[in-house]
Amino acid sequence: MPAVVIIGAQWGDEGKGKATDLLGSRIDYVVKFNGGNNAGHTVVIGDEKYALHLLPSGILTDGVVPVIANGVVIDIEVLFDELTALTARGVDVSRLLVSANAHVITQYHRTLDRVTERFLGKRQIGTTGRGIGPSYADKINRVGIRIQDLFDENILRQKVEGALHQKNQLLVKLYNRRAITVDEIVGDLLSYAERLRPLVADTGLLLNQALDAGKTVLFEGGQATMLDVDHGTYPFVTSSNSTSGGAATGSGVAPNRIDRVIGIVKAYTTRVGSGPFPTELLDESGEWLRTKGFEFGTTTGRPRRTGWYDAPVARYSARVNGVTDFVMTKLDVLTGLTEIPVCVAYEVDGVRVDEVPVSQSDFHHAVPIYENFPGWTEDISGAREFSDLPKAAQQYVLAVEAMSGSRISAIGVGPERDAIVVRHDLLA
Ligand code: GDP
Ligand code: IMO
Ligand code: MG
Repeated sequence: MPAVVIIGAQWGDEGKGKATDLLGSRIDYVVKFNGGNNAGHTVVIGDEKYALHLLPSGILTDGVVPVIANGVVIDIEVLFDELTALTARGVDVSRLLVSANAHVITQYHRTLDRVTERFLGKRQIGTTGRGIGPSYADKINRVGIRIQDLFDENILRQKVEGALHQKNQLLVKLYNRRAITVDEIVGDLLSYAERLRPLVADTGLLLNQALDAGKTVLFEGGQATMLDVDHGTYPFVTSSNSTSGGAATGSGVAPNRIDRVIGIVKAYTTRVGSGPFPTELLDESGEWLRTKGFEFGTTTGRPRRTGWYDAPVARYSARVNGVTDFVMTKLDVLTGLTEIPVCVAYEVDGVRVDEVPVSQSDFHHAVPIYENFPGWTEDISGAREFSDLPKAAQQYVLAVEAMSGSRISAIGVGPERDAIVVRHDLLA
């Protein structure tokens, strides 16, 4: 069973590392195909807690080859900081490969990210401020800097000159910031070139060869379906394709080689940053979920917005991504509620709507229609079989599964790596 994609099926932070861990030793390669250090993955292994941003969480699994593919935007300083920190904790990162075609995040991208947000005022997106949007904008605008450019100083200088020519006008004349010099950027990027060189490869070719040889490749999506630049709640999205199609364009592995698509959903919903979120709870239930689920961003530390499970969103994700299996995380967080509401449809201007509306303004004022399910009080963190779960918890999972467009094959019952109930083999 060679190529497997993992994607977030809501607004991110679903606990995508949980599914990666579940596949564990069956994986030969783990590929990050989109986004950059806007991602934040917290993985708990024994007593150790790891927070990763740019590196895929699969890097923590012994023996895998981690790959940062062409679809990623790389802040090189962050890359080396993360590698150094992991090495210091005894994680073997020596096999990491980086695509020669991946784009680079520079100082001017980070600066532009922050100043444009400030200028948007009330319409701000609430980005992570890591330079993600401006770097992808340069890529699409054909003025980006790629990893391979670092190995040809002449080319690099020309490209940085071209990019800064435009940027400095914006920074100085519109945003009232200082101009950035070509020398600072080129000097900074070149300072990493020799350290980077041994990691750089034709990752698209290598991944296809690995699949030819019968290896198992896991594509680990950053962000999530509702943050996808095409399929999410635009403009309140990130700037990459975080849906399963992005695994193909972002890696150079063709869509017809992908066998399984695993969608990760929380047993409820969270969102960081601005934008529509129909089931958001602004009352004490929302605060309860935030505290109980420890919903604070791994990357920015911001409190996450919280709300009930949204079945139309899950169904939409199942459709857009071709989800073959869902992994539901954080079911344990719901323990202690008397009743658990699930959004089954919306009401838009007095009319019942069963699917995520295509119109952004409809989605903005969609009012959830809830169905309530009985809660449970038993501690479920020790459950490993579906039958270990209290009847009400089983019923919640089965009811949500029936509405979500694909089977729920595993259920997270705690932050630890092995705190999971498996119902179906994710690769079968
Ligand atoms: P990602 O962005 O999808 O990688 O997820 P994050 O790491 O940002 O957020 C998920 C958080 O939930 C992490 O702190 C995980 O340790 C935690 N987590 C994952 N699965 C479970 C679970 O089943 N139960 C609980 N209580 N926590 C979980
Ligand atoms: P993981 O991989 C949750 C959100 C930001 C902001 C919007 C755009 O941990 O699930 P960006 O900096 O990407 O331009 O910000 O997207 N966002 C995330 N929210 N989890 C993430 O990643 C996110 N990455 C970006 O909060 O609203
Ligand atoms: Mg996260």
